[in-house]
Amino acid sequence: MSDPARFLTSLAQALSTMALYPEGHPAREGVVDTAFAALAELQLADRRVSFSFLGDDVVFGDRPLRQLRGWDWSNRLAEAGIQRIEFETEVARDEFDRFLSQLLAKLTLFAVQQGEPTPKGGGPIRFGQLGIREMEAGPELTTATIALSLHEEAETVEWLHEEMQSGHNLPLHEAEAVVRSLAAAMHGDQAIVLPLLELRRYDEYTTTHSLNVCVLAMGLAEWVGLGARDIRAFGVAGLLHDIGKVKIPTDILNKAGRLTPEEREIMNRHPVEGARIIMESEENLDLAAVVAYEHHIMQNGGGYPKLEYPRECHQASKLVHVCDVYDALRTNRPYRAAWPAPKVLDYVEERAGTEFEPDVARRFVKMMSEWEPRQAALADQTEVVDMHALPLAPSTAAVPAAAPGSAPPAQG
Ligand SMILES: [Fe+2]
Ligand SMILES: [Fe+2]
Repeated sequence: MSDPARFLTSLAQALSTMALYPEGHPAREGVVDTAFAALAELQLADRRVSFSFLGDDVVFGDRPLRQLRGWDWSNRLAEAGIQRIEFETEVARDEFDRFLSQLLAKLTLFAVQQGEPTPKGGGPIRFGQLGIREMEAGPELTTATIALSLHEEAETVEWLHEEMQSGHNLPLHEAEAVVRSLAAAMHGDQAIVLPLLELRRYDEYTTTHSLNVCVLAMGLAEWVGLGARDIRAFGVAGLLHDIGKVKIPTDILNKAGRLTPEEREIMNRHPVEGARIIMESEENLDLAAVVAYEHHIMQNGGGYPKLEYPRECHQASKLVHVCDVYDALRTNRPYRAAWPAPKVLDYVEERAGTEFEPDVARRFVKMMSEWEPRQAALADQTEVVDMHALPLAPSTAAVPAAAPGSAPPAQG
C-alpha cells in the first residue's frame, strides 16, 4: 500500500477509535500516533499534502488513488462536506490531535442531525458534515477555512435539552462535540473570534444563551491563560450551566412579563436542579455540576442558592457567572431590550467586588474590549460567515438601545 493510502486508512482508524475512547486512553493515543507517523512519512517527500474526496474517488495531489477507489470513507467524507484535506507545512503532534478532534466533533454533530442512534462508548463511528471546508490553494494560507454556521451546534443543544427534558441521561459525547466544534470555530483563523449567536425567537433563548456562555467562558479561560483541557472543561460547564432549566415549566421560562415571587422561586431552583441532573447522569462532570450550582452566587454571598456556610465559589463558576450576565444583558428579552456592549461592560465593572470577583470582572472587561469587535454575530444561524473577513469586520449585531430607566436585569 502506498503511503497516502496508508495515511488515510490510519486517519479513518484513528477517528473510529477516538469515538470510542476518552482522551488520554492508550488505545486512542496509539492510533493517533500511527496516523501521525504515517503523515510524517508522507511529508518526507513533499510537505505539501492534499487529498480530495470525490465520492468514490480519492485524489492525492492530482493523482487518483486507485487502491482506495470505492473506499467507504471517501463517500462519507464527501457527503459530509469534507471535499478536501490539505497540509501545507509540517504538523505538530498536538495540532494533529486537535485537527482529528475537530473532525470528530463535526461528525458527531451531524449524526445528531441525522437522528442516528448515538451509542455511548461503543457502536460505529458517526459521520457527517464537517466544519473544515475546502481550503483554497495559496502559499499564504496554512489553516483551514471553517464554515462558521452554528446551525449543527444549535440543533444539537436543542436536542440535548429535549433529551434531558424527557428524563434521559446527559449525552456527554454530543455536549463535548459542541464544545470542540465551538473551540474550532473560535480558532479557525490566526486571530481568535467569538462566534456568538443572536437570539431569533424568544423560546430559543436557552439554546442560544448556552452556546454563547460556552464561547465566552472558553474565551475568558483562554484569556486568563488556562490550558486546552481546562478551557474545554470550562466550555462544557458554560454549555450546561442552565441545564436545570429543563425542569422549569416553559410558561415560566418563556414568560413575557415579570415573574411573580412564586414563579421567581421556581425559576431560582434551576442551579440546584442542574447540578443534580449532571451529577446523576455523568460522574465525570464534577466541574460542570459545581458551576451549574454556583453560577448565580455572587462574590458578596448574595444571589442563589443560599449557602449555609458561605465559601468561595470555584474559579470556573466565577468566570461563567460574568459570561452569563454579559450574554443575558446583551440579548433582547420580552421585558427588556438588549443593552449595548459598553453599557454591559460598565455594569460588570461597577459590580466588581460585589456581584463579581474583581479580578475576573477586570479581565473579562479587558478581553471583551479587545475581542468584542471580532465577534461573529450570527443573526441567521444558517448564514456562513467567511472567517477570513472576521478579524477586521466590526460586529454586525443590530443592538437596540436600552429602554431608558430600564429595570435591573433579570439574568439567566
Ligand atoms: Fe444563564
Ligand atoms: Fe442560570
